[in-house]
Amino acid sequence: MVLGKLIKKIMNKDKIAIVGLGYVGLPLARLFATKYSVVGFDINTDRISELMSGIDSTLEVDNETLQAVLVKESTEANGLFCTNELDQIKDCNYYIITVPTPVDKNNRPILTPLIKASETVGAVLKPGAIVVYESTVYPGATEEDCVPVLERVSGLTFNKDFYAGYSPERINPGDKEHTVDKILKVTSGSTPEIGKKVDDLYKAVITAGTHLAPTIKVAEASKVIENSQRDINIAFVNELAKIFNLMDINTHDVLEAAGTKWNFLPFKPGLVGGHCIGVDPYYLAQKAQENGYHPEIILAGRRLNDGMGAYVASEVIKLMISKDIKIKNANILVLGITFKENCPDVRNTKAVDVIVALKEYGTEVTIYDPWANVEEVNYEYGLKSTKKIPLDKFDAIVLTVSHKEFLTIDFSKIKNEKSIIYDVKNILSESIKDKTL
Ligand SMILES: NC(=O)c1ccc[n+]([C@@H]2O[C@H](COP(=O)([O-])OP(=O)(O)OC[C@H]3O[C@@H](n4cnc5c(N)ncnc54)[C@H](O)[C@@H]3O)[C@@H](O)[C@H]2O)c1
Repeated sequence: MVLGKLIKKIMNKDKIAIVGLGYVGLPLARLFATKYSVVGFDINTDRISELMSGIDSTLEVDNETLQAVLVKESTEANGLFCTNELDQIKDCNYYIITVPTPVDKNNRPILTPLIKASETVGAVLKPGAIVVYESTVYPGATEEDCVPVLERVSGLTFNKDFYAGYSPERINPGDKEHTVDKILKVTSGSTPEIGKKVDDLYKAVITAGTHLAPTIKVAEASKVIENSQRDINIAFVNELAKIFNLMDINTHDVLEAAGTKWNFLPFKPGLVGGHCIGVDPYYLAQKAQENGYHPEIILAGRRLNDGMGAYVASEVIKLMISKDIKIKNANILVLGITFKENCPDVRNTKAVDVIVALKEYGTEVTIYDPWANVEEVNYEYGLKSTKKIPLDKFDAIVLTVSHKEFLTIDFSKIKNEKSIIYDVKNILSESIKDKTL
C-alpha cells in the first residue's frame, strides 16, 4: 500500500489548479482529478460549498460522478478538492484558468476576470510552473494581456522562470454525449517544449486526442473563429428565413431539400444567445479593429442575429392579427427562457428579446421553463417565470427553446380555438404549430 502510493507519487507528481469552477472549469477539474491531484479554485464561496457537498447546480457533472473524485483535503493523491483559499493552490505546477470572458453593453471584451485570475495565480506562481488559459479570447490575449500580469505579480520572467499555454474549451453545455473527454482538444505552449508538455498533460485525460497548435496565438484564433463561423452561418439562414417568410415559403422545407446536396451545411434559423457564439465574434472584431481592419461579415452576422428576437415577436404579432386576436393585453405563453435546450443557463439568452418585444406590443407574457432557476431569471432580467406549466388558456404560445419537456405538452389544454402557436425551433408537429421561424 505504502509502496503503491510512493510509486504513484514518483510517476505523477504534477499538481493542477483549475481557476474558475463553472460550466467549463468543473467538468475539466473532475476529469483531471481521475488521474491527477487537482485543486479547484473559485472566488464564489457558495459554488465551493455546493461542490464540496457533492452537488453541481449547472448539471454538467452528475452528483455521483462528482462525489467519486472529491477529497476532503488537498494531498498529492488523485482527486478534487475545491476551495477559495489561495494558500491551497500554492504548491501546484500547472494552473488552468477557466474564468468568464464576457462583453460589456457596447459589446466590447471584458478581460477583468481573466486579469484578476492572473493576479491570483501570479501571487503563488513558482519557478517551473505552466499557466494554461482556456477562456475564449482574441488572438494575443494570453501573451499580451495575461502574461504581463503574471510577471508583474510574481516577479518571475516569462519563458525563463514560468511558461504559458492556451487550450480552448469546446464543450457544449447540456450535451451528455460530447463530454469534455470526448472532444478533441487544441493545445499550445509558449515554447515548442512547453507545447509538448501541455499537450501531454491533456492527452492523459482527453480520450478523443489532442491537436498541438504551433503557437498560442494560433490556438486562440482557432477557438474564436470556430464560434464566429457558426454565428455567420446561422445569420445566413436567419436571413433566408426572413426572405422566405415574405414569400410564404417554409424555410425548413427549403433547408431540408438543399441539405440533400453533399456539401450543403446543416444550419438552422434561430435565436443566438449564450456566452459563446453570440459573444466570441466581438472578441475577434475588437482585435481586428485594433489592427486597423473593420470587419464587415463578422459584424453583419452579429447585427442580424441580435435582431432575431424582435423579428420573432413581430412575426407572432402579425400572425395574431391575421387571426383577429386582440393584441393589447393578449395572454402569451413563452416556452423557454434558457439560452439553449435542456440546460439551466440563462445568461445572455435571446428568448428575453422576444419577451421584451412582445411586452412592448402591450401583451401579457407568462414564461414557462422547467429548467431555468426562477430566482436567477428574476435577478438577471426582472422577469417572473415558472417551472410548472400554467393551467390557463393563452391567445398565443411561442416556443423559443427546444427543451424535451415541450414535446409532451397537451396544447389543447392551454389554448382556445383561435390561439396561435409559433414554433421558433420547429420541433412541434405540423398539426400543432401555426408557423415556424
Ligand atoms: N460555457 C460554455 O459552453 C463554454 C464553452 C467553451 C468555452 N467557454 C469559455 O470558457 C470560459 C468560462 O466559461 P464558463 O461558461 O465556464 O463560465 P462560468 O461563469 O460558468 O464559470 C466561471 C467561474 O469562474 C469563477 N470566477 C470568476 N472570476 C474568477 C476569479 N478571478 N478567480 C477565480 N474564479 C473566478 C466564477 O465564480 C465562476 O464560477 C469563458 O471564456 C467562455 O467563453 C465556455
